[in-house]
Amino acid sequence: MDDQTQEMVALTENIREFEEEALRTIERAESWELPDLRIHYLGRKGSLRALYALVPGLPEGARAGIGRRLNEVRANVETALEKAQTVSDMIADKYHLDVTKPGHVAAEDVDVTMPGRMPRIGKRNPLLTTLEDMVDVFVGMGFKVAEGPEVETYYYSFPKLNYPEWHPAMDSQMTFYVNDDVLLRSQTSTVQIRVMENQEPPVRVVVPGRCFRRDTVDATHSHTFYQIEGLLVDEGVTFADLKGALEIFAREMFGPDIHTRFRPDFFPFTEPSAEFALTCVKCRGAGQNAGEMCRVCRGSGWLEVGGSGMVDPNVLAGVGYDPERYTGWAFGCGIERFAMLRYGIDDIRLFYGSDMRFLEQF
Ligand code: DAH
Repeated sequence: MDDQTQEMVALTENIREFEEEALRTIERAESWELPDLRIHYLGRKGSLRALYALVPGLPEGARAGIGRRLNEVRANVETALEKAQTVSDMIADKYHLDVTKPGHVAAEDVDVTMPGRMPRIGKRNPLLTTLEDMVDVFVGMGFKVAEGPEVETYYYSFPKLNYPEWHPAMDSQMTFYVNDDVLLRSQTSTVQIRVMENQEPPVRVVVPGRCFRRDTVDATHSHTFYQIEGLLVDEGVTFADLKGALEIFAREMFGPDIHTRFRPDFFPFTEPSAEFALTCVKCRGAGQNAGEMCRVCRGSGWLEVGGSGMVDPNVLAGVGYDPERYTGWAFGCGIERFAMLRYGIDDIRLFYGSDMRFLEQF
């Protein structure tokens, strides 16, 4: 091989290496590097120009061939730059990125086939489901839903509900005081007063809401808990109406074989007052399950779930209603108890923990 031929072989090899390096670099380049690469490879002082500059000095017979080869390389580099720019523009457009500066996601880093990340979704608390189902039964009977403040005055909590001053009945309502006149309500009964003060009879409301008491937390007690209150005031309302409404309520919540039982009790705001119980939802009143004493009702066949009674005339008079003309009934009960019975939950604290392992079961 003579010198000239050797020179030609070396040049051809240089051109091939240049092309290979340029195409590979462009393919791997970040978007913002493309303009500089174009200058570097194709610019007036670029590497390709340096190769072109060799052509005039080549032997006659080789010039045309090398020239064509260089044209081909230029076209290939040009195409590669355009292709990279197109991809970069597409990604920039789709993801609203500024691809002219470092720091954005490089084109080849975006894998559009990668599965997305599922957001973690919470679950509805069974306590809320129960609350809504209880409300729904009364809404179906024509009741409206009312709400009242959780931070309540002493006045609405006790005197307006006919609690005599310093009466021991207040002990069962031991709650948290903000000051002497303001406290966290211990029962939704306070909302009875607020509703009646704001409207004339007939009144038909249910009041679901959060209450507070100074109870030590254990499996069945919580300082924060939920109650639902019912109140109906109209002309000619009797205790039989109360029994009928709660009988329907029991049946709708737990099934047609579940009934109510009323026994005398005392609440300052009702007279007469009655504790109400439901047929045990576990043993369905039998007091036993397969020969074993029922643990849920301790064998009695009944579950005491709330208080009720005829609205005391003093309470009616206190809100400006004529007790000679109007009578009414009221009831109140805890919602946790219902939810626990319904779902077989044995620890009240589970309702407030937001533990997904618990919530996921409903
Ligand atoms: N508020 C009472 C309690 O928390 C329950 C209650 C009893 C509500 C009698 C009433 C009622 O509306 O009439 O213990």
